[in-house]
Amino acid sequence: MGTILDFLGSDHRLCDERFATVQAAVTQRDWEGARESFDRFHAAMRRHLAREENVLFPAFEARTANAMGPTQVMRMEHARMRRLMQDMARATVDEDHSRYLCQAAILLTLMQQHNLKEEELLFPMFDLMLDDAGTDLIGAMLAIAE
Ligand SMILES: [Fe+2]
Ligand SMILES: [Fe+2]
Repeated sequence: MGTILDFLGSDHRLCDERFATVQAAVTQRDWEGARESFDRFHAAMRRHLAREENVLFPAFEARTANAMGPTQVMRMEHARMRRLMQDMARATVDEDHSRYLCQAAILLTLMQQHNLKEEELLFPMFDLMLDDAGTDLIGAMLAIAE
């Protein structure tokens, strides 16, 4: 099995692709398509955040005895993403074009910055630190269904 960086990096790409699909539907004011594709994006994001929060971060925190460090910052940013996605879901129900695009732009910036920190700093560090446990962790993350 590959590295944590490979595994969660491709999860990031999947979320990005699904985000773009919703964006295209909203731009065309295809609200039925937007709601459907938003559900798929939201499901991929929920699974991704759960993989990090329920499997990866606890493993790191257990090794470092540090639940207040970088993983705490990541958890706070996840909470912000969840709130934005709630607003976006509501905007697809209300068929509110400008509200959707406004919240989506904030989420996109937040995701880009967040994913960059994970892919450039945290995941490479986790790959080094968790080393032999990495394969088990990826197995446990794979087991989290969408
Ligand atoms: Fe994250
Ligand atoms: Fe992530």
